[in-house]
Amino acid sequence: MKAPSLATTKWRNEAQLTENATILEDLIAEKCDQDEFTPRIAQVKGKIMSEQTVTAEASASRLEAFTRAFNRGRQHWRTRQHLLDTDDLTPGELASITDVATEAKKILKAGDAPLSVLHTRTIATAFYENSTRTRSSFELAARRLGATLLNLDVASSSVVKGETIIDTSKTLLSMGVQALIQRHSASGSARQMARELGDRLHLINAGDGWNAHPTQALLDYFTMSEVRGSLNGAKIAIVGDLKHSRVARSNIRLLTRCGAMVHTAGPPTLTPIDLGKMGVIVHSKVEPAIENADFVMVLRIQLERQKQGLIPSIGEYRRLYRIDSARMRLAKPEARVLHPGPMNRDVEISDELAECSEKSLITTQVTNGVAVRMAVLYLLLGE
Ligand code: CP
Repeated sequence: MKAPSLATTKWRNEAQLTENATILEDLIAEKCDQDEFTPRIAQVKGKIMSEQTVTAEASASRLEAFTRAFNRGRQHWRTRQHLLDTDDLTPGELASITDVATEAKKILKAGDAPLSVLHTRTIATAFYENSTRTRSSFELAARRLGATLLNLDVASSSVVKGETIIDTSKTLLSMGVQALIQRHSASGSARQMARELGDRLHLINAGDGWNAHPTQALLDYFTMSEVRGSLNGAKIAIVGDLKHSRVARSNIRLLTRCGAMVHTAGPPTLTPIDLGKMGVIVHSKVEPAIENADFVMVLRIQLERQKQGLIPSIGEYRRLYRIDSARMRLAKPEARVLHPGPMNRDVEISDELAECSEKSLITTQVTNGVAVRMAVLYLLLGE
């Protein structure tokens, strides 16, 4: 058994000091006399030492399992330079993300101290478009792995003075950044950036326009797999604004390759004309899409689509497409609902369904986002 790291020991000791002080206070309050005091102290000390050992051993064993999962998966990731979308992920790469993320989740759940497996790595995030979940979870994932992290503040960067995002990335590269996590509003920007940078750094696409959001699809896949096991043969309904959704595209590319039967539903004005070519069954009505589904994935409707004349009114959209508990009764009894966030409550999903712990996987998706992004960063950058 490996000894716990210094960081683990220090962290545990701080928690233990607080506990020791409480125990001493209790003993003083009990006013033990001298004869009782010494054996009581020895007894308490023994208990504390054994609890500390058990905690440190459990933490070390989770770290070992995490490292073992990485060692099993690294052979599949050896030749991968970038993560741009889900369409070129091999079965081995996908399986190893699940394997490593499963162990990462145990570490996060136990509240273990940050690891140091990426302590020699420098990672930058550059979000040219707003984000809460993706940016925060990548940041937490990088810190949990011990990497040095730089968050480019786009609003105060030289991009505002007209510097291109390619020059910005080359600048970060010259400072020693080894991986760049980028979100940009232009579809195809990630692939273009990857072509420019070649193998000089690892690029992770955190969302490019309408095109792709691979880590969202991976965390959705991981979340559904935790519930159902294999997704082969599962019916998965994707409902909403399919035209403008990078989440839908990356999910469709991934889920159809895993043998899932993907059905879509959305207003014809928000459904790409050639969506069927992606291997999905396209509906305009929501009912046949969610009937007997294992999972219903709800997409955000951007409220400005109404101004663009793509939906008659929010009220009409709500009436025809909002997913609520009544509509969920068309799906399998055990069916679960997902939403990538941010949500428009009571527009595309009812508030009561979003909050229903038996049906909603929304908070689990967010929790799993950190574990899945830890797996991606470790597999891409680990040694
Ligand atoms: N799901 C998602 O991409 O959320 P953010 O825009 O908050 O990152």
